[in-house]
Amino acid sequence: MNVHDSEKIAGIFSESGYGTAMDIKGADVVVLNTCNIRQKAAQKLYSDLGRLKKIKKNRPGLKVAVAGCIAQQTGSDLFKRFPYVDFVFGPGNIDNLRKWIEGNTVRTALHNNSDYHLKTLPMKREGRVKAWVSIMYGCDNFCAYCVVPYTRGRERSRPSRDILREVENIAREGYKEVTLLGQNVNSYGKKLEEQITFPDLLKVLHNVYGIERIRFVTSHPRDFSGNLVIAMKDLPKICEHLHLPMQSGSDRVLKSMNRSYTFREYKEKISMVRKAVPGIAITTDVIAGFPGETEEDFEQTVSALKEIEFDGIFAFKYSQRPDTRALELAGHINEEKKSLRLARILELQDSITQKINVSLEGETVEVLVEGISETDRDKMTGRTRTNKIEHFTGSDQDIGKMLDIRILEAKRHSLLGERVQGA
Ligand code: 5AD
Ligand code: SF4
Repeated sequence: MNVHDSEKIAGIFSESGYGTAMDIKGADVVVLNTCNIRQKAAQKLYSDLGRLKKIKKNRPGLKVAVAGCIAQQTGSDLFKRFPYVDFVFGPGNIDNLRKWIEGNTVRTALHNNSDYHLKTLPMKREGRVKAWVSIMYGCDNFCAYCVVPYTRGRERSRPSRDILREVENIAREGYKEVTLLGQNVNSYGKKLEEQITFPDLLKVLHNVYGIERIRFVTSHPRDFSGNLVIAMKDLPKICEHLHLPMQSGSDRVLKSMNRSYTFREYKEKISMVRKAVPGIAITTDVIAGFPGETEEDFEQTVSALKEIEFDGIFAFKYSQRPDTRALELAGHINEEKKSLRLARILELQDSITQKINVSLEGETVEVLVEGISETDRDKMTGRTRTNKIEHFTGSDQDIGKMLDIRILEAKRHSLLGERVQGA
């Protein structure tokens, strides 16, 4: 979501006649688009600002803006600590950038614009094969650890006609894959005047000529519905991949996280979708060391990972975030223990991912080619419908094509394959 916000920021600059500088030395303006989801992401801002201070000393004309969720939460306090920052704006205020570029605005823009979801901002998208499209902003869930409701504000859905127009436009520009973005896409449409649900929206977008693949992130397990599973089963453009954040395998922890489902309910949703969509890849998010997580709770998460066998996970150490309810919980866990728990989860998951991927060796899969591989410049890279990275020998003529690739070998973070002859 943050990266997609950067595409919007770049879009507004582009519209105002600015291009992307190759490095800081050639830049007139630097925008730091920050993430505040965990402390580690936040720390990056302070080291980057330190670097910029030195640069600005020699080049006072350089303009510095801080965007994103830290900007939203820290607000004008940023000017106190970093007086050389020129403009601070939150994720619901990207369009205010225009006024700043034109030189007629105050130094901050932080009130989440009430009509932000009704605007379609210009976009300078990365790549030309797959595109992100926001379908909703904000979140009403208030999971105890999470800062998002405080930075991105209340949940607001975009009208379906605006989303449709955007998807039609990207299809016309040649994009083949779209990923619909929202903190909780399943509750799409809830506050809209039009009567529309997320599965309805998927049906509408499914008709867009030129779009061959549809993905979405993120789903909240509570709102992940039977109707969505039916849509995933019936609509061939929806890819066989689901990211469904579990967070913990312990009901006690899930409750104190305010997640409003039990592990059993979570598991039932996974069984439902696996039954309806054979071969679907399922990924998740897990937090290690949430306040009050006992050894027993943690072991339940470990068993959950063994039982479900996800294709991949994103696992994080619990990180204290400003304003969140988890700060007041008893039993905060020290860094060392959190690190040990995280390492154990990651090691276990590595072996599960490896096992699943090895079982795919010999299969032929459809790959949408994205570009030249960054790790091996002799290879091309793309993704399977199940969202796995596939490397194979090809040429840049293949970019944007759907190719049949036979999986030869499962590597640690990708699959190595070869093009099926005649395909
Ligand atoms: N600490 C650790 N992980 C977090 N996440 C969100 N907030 C925190 C936090 N305070 C993780 C959750 C979420 C993912 C996007 O980031 O697992 O699903
Ligand atoms: Fe954060 Fe929970 Fe909302 Fe996800 S659903 S953005 S974890 S509050």
